[in-house]
Order: sequence, then structure tokens, then C-alpha cells
Amino acid sequence: MSRISIFVFVTAVVAISVALDCSNVIEKESEGVRNWLGNITFIAPVPTVTGWTLTLFFDRNFTGVGVWDGFVSYDGAEGWAEIVNRNETDARIEAGEKKSLRFRVNYPTLPPAEVLSLRFQDIELCR
Ligand SMILES: *[C@@H]1O[C@H](CO)[C@@H](O)[C@H](O)[C@H]1NC(C)=O
Ligand SMILES: *[C@@H]1O[C@H](CO)[C@@H](O)[C@H](O)[C@H]1NC(C)=O
Ligand SMILES: *[C@@H]1O[C@H](CO)[C@@H](O)[C@H](O)[C@H]1NC(C)=O
Repeated sequence: MSRISIFVFVTAVVAISVALDCSNVIEKESEGVRNWLGNITFIAPVPTVTGWTLTLFFDRNFTGVGVWDGFVSYDGAEGWAEIVNRNETDARIEAGEKKSLRFRVNYPTLPPAEVLSLRFQDIELCR
């Protein structure tokens, strides 16, 4: 293995071993009719300069994900949503900085679509 691939391997193992249960990272604030409102709170594992991406993976179909402090794209049938920073001021996060963000999930039928795992800059935060 080259030095780079060993580095990537070690980094991946460390990232997986520290990943928390998502119930420690995502707090459900309220549940409505076929939607719930949540709050993601996490410590940034790496710094970002020009922007960041937070990816959510769901256990089943949903019809929409909305955020206030960011832009979102999603595919409800594939079960993922991607949240990115809204502007340049918001793009920079220090490593170790606590970040929190509210979002809403709409789902077509019960039971509610739940978050299976969450990634920040492709690093797993919880699962
Ligand atoms: C999210 O939850 C955390 C911890 O309860 C709280 O400190 C923070 O203010 C909340 N953020 C938002 C945007 O509601
Ligand atoms: C969403 O529904 C479609 C059609 O019923 C199904 O093929 C797909 O596997 C579902 N996706 C998820 C993430 O449950
Ligand atoms: C940048 O985005 C953040 C988070 O959405 C927001 O609080 C802030 O007002 C925005 N700043 C500008 C200059 O639009």
C-alpha cells in the first residue's frame, strides 16, 4: 500500500469508529401530520473554507426535506438529501466548532422516514 492509501484507510477507520448513534445528533423538535421537524447538532470534524455539504440518508421514501440555513437537494425515492451552505459567510467552519441546523422532513405514509446516517464533508457523523 502506498503512503496515501494507508492514510486514507486509517482516516476512514477512525471516522467510522467515532460515529455516534444518530439519536445523539438529531433531535426531533416536533411531529406533525406526515412531517417532523428536527435539529442537527454536531462538532465539525474538519474545517471548511469554501463551503460544506451535509448528507442525510433515510430509511424509507420521503416527499421533501426543507432547511432554513442552507440549500437542499434530495431524492425521496432514493432516500437521500444534501444540504449545502447558503452563502460565503456561512461557508467557513472551524474544526471542532459546534454547528446546529434545523430541518423538516415530509413523508407520504406512516411510519415516518427516519435518518439512518449523516455525513459532513463525506465523514460519517452518525448512523
Ligand atoms: C438545536 O438544539 C441544540 C441543543 O438542544 C440547541 O442548543 C440549539 O439552539 C438548537 N438549534 C436550533 C437552530 O434550534
Ligand atoms: C421508495 O419507493 C419505491 C417505489 O415504491 C421503491 O422502489 C424504493 O425502494 C423506495 N425507496 C426507499 C428508500 O425506501
Ligand atoms: C448567510 O447565511 C446564513 C445562514 O443561512 C444567514 O444567517 C446569513 O444571514 C446569511 N448572510 C448573508 C449575507 O446573506
